[in-house]
Amino acid sequence: MLIKISAILLVGFLVFPLSYKEMLIKISAILLVGFLALAYEAIQPPPPRTCGSPGGPPITGPRIKLRDGRHLAYKEHGVPREVANKKIVFIHAFGSCKHDAVIALNLPQGLVEELGIYIVSFDRQGYGESDPDPHRTAKSIALDVEELADNLGLGPKFYVIGYSMGGQSVWGCLKYIPHRLAGATLLAPVVNYWWPSFPSNLSTMAYKLQPKQDQWAVRVFHYLPWLTYWWLSQKWFPTSSVVENNPAVFSPQDLQIISKMVPNSDIQSYVRQQGVSESIFRDGIVGFRTWEFDPLDLDNPFPNNESQVHLWHGDDDRLVPVILQRYIAQTLPWIQYHELKGAGHLFPHIQELPADIIKTQLLG
Ligand SMILES: *[C@@H]1O[C@H](CO)[C@@H](O)[C@H](O)[C@H]1NC(C)=O
Repeated sequence: MLIKISAILLVGFLVFPLSYKEMLIKISAILLVGFLALAYEAIQPPPPRTCGSPGGPPITGPRIKLRDGRHLAYKEHGVPREVANKKIVFIHAFGSCKHDAVIALNLPQGLVEELGIYIVSFDRQGYGESDPDPHRTAKSIALDVEELADNLGLGPKFYVIGYSMGGQSVWGCLKYIPHRLAGATLLAPVVNYWWPSFPSNLSTMAYKLQPKQDQWAVRVFHYLPWLTYWWLSQKWFPTSSVVENNPAVFSPQDLQIISKMVPNSDIQSYVRQQGVSESIFRDGIVGFRTWEFDPLDLDNPFPNNESQVHLWHGDDDRLVPVILQRYIAQTLPWIQYHELKGAGHLFPHIQELPADIIKTQLLG
């Protein structure tokens, strides 16, 4: 369409006398400006439908107010926090919410009571009923976790457990609030291919293990974040497998786990109810852009062996290549690395694993 209009204008420009040419230049300029305005409009995300705002979703659960006025919605699991011995903050995955505290959901009640386990999960920024934070960084996310813990009176030290994209937030906690941590567990944490310490041959190899469409989506997050909304919303070509729920990124074990899941459409719509741009799309941008620090440069947060940092990963994870996780474990000898044979990205959903993961952290 645009090419046709340009061609007609060009022909007109060549054959008509000067006065027409001037008019044509004006028309072209107007069309160009109009086109750019339309293009710009098309790639702008609509503003988020903030919870509690007129026409926005209602507030149905408890929230705390953060230092900059944002709210963070949370949900408590396990024994009451007043009597708990072990306090854990759980950080959820991409496209998920506080209701999907996968570690809390499958814990045997006996274990919860025996160890006095309390778990709080929260809607990450822009998800569910937590306000969006367009300025979020690894640091601001860690400070949100700290504020949540302090607001709930969890004491000087607490555990953090993060799954998948939530694992990235755990790296931020290890960097910015290590003095507040009683221990940390990363479950299939998403890796950023641009962390500078990765040898480039290794990160390139891992990058190419992703389906082509995901290589592109990750490139957009990293290099062209302003294009993200358009890229992931358009229907002309495939976008991110994760955003599209493409089964190509799941291992046989993952597919088996998915086949047994009972989808809860209420929770699925709750996750994105404020809009996709400040929930899942922002998550991709924050995860894959250039970071303020390199997790591979971190120091041991527990130099006197007071506690441990555990990292669990499946050797058949098709979303987050295991070769990068192995490199991290090898580079940071203080990480307790647990590689699960035959496991994909969804292993925390396997019935008995949350108990193993929790016991390894709390009793290790
Ligand atoms: C990357 O290069 C280094 C040094 O040349 C080499 O030791 C390593 O095996 C290479 N890794 C891969 C995955 O090719």
